[in-house]
Amino acid sequence: MSTLCIAFVIYSATIYTSGTAATHDQRMSDEARHGQQLYQEKNCVACHQFYGLGGYMGPDLTNAISRRGEAVSRAFITAGTASMPNFQLSNDEVTALVEFLRFVDKTGTYPPQDYDVLWTGGVSQEDDPR
Ligand code: HEC
Repeated sequence: MSTLCIAFVIYSATIYTSGTAATHDQRMSDEARHGQQLYQEKNCVACHQFYGLGGYMGPDLTNAISRRGEAVSRAFITAGTASMPNFQLSNDEVTALVEFLRFVDKTGTYPPQDYDVLWTGGVSQEDDPR
């Protein structure tokens, strides 16, 4: 019984702590934080998703930067389209939003592509093409 308890504690500690240490470039810059605030204020989530969560009128933005590129994303945010409103944002605000999208882009891939199930039951995205 005590062997089981010890195994449980070790397994739990491993699962809940592995890969959770933030490295420096995973922290959000002030610019990206400003972008996040704008994302909330302008309610972009009403139409867009991150990791599949959000409104469904527009596309998922998790990997918008690597999928469409920064210039295209800037153009959408600056001018809107027939189905996306033009929010009349200043140049700095657009830059902040792009910075926020770039930050989100680096957090992972959605939808998940090639991943391996590890012996611990977790998944590895080491084959991530980006
Ligand atoms: C009323 C719904 C709506 C809101 C609110 C909205 N969008 Fe969009 N957005 C869309 C739609 C629809 C598209 C696709 C437009 C098209 O292809 O013509 C789009 C496209 C985009 C794209 C291009 C992504 C791609 O993969 O093509 C970006 C980037 C984007 N929006 C960012 C934002 C940001 C940032 C905000 C908040 C400031 C926002 N959107 C608010 C509807 C919306």
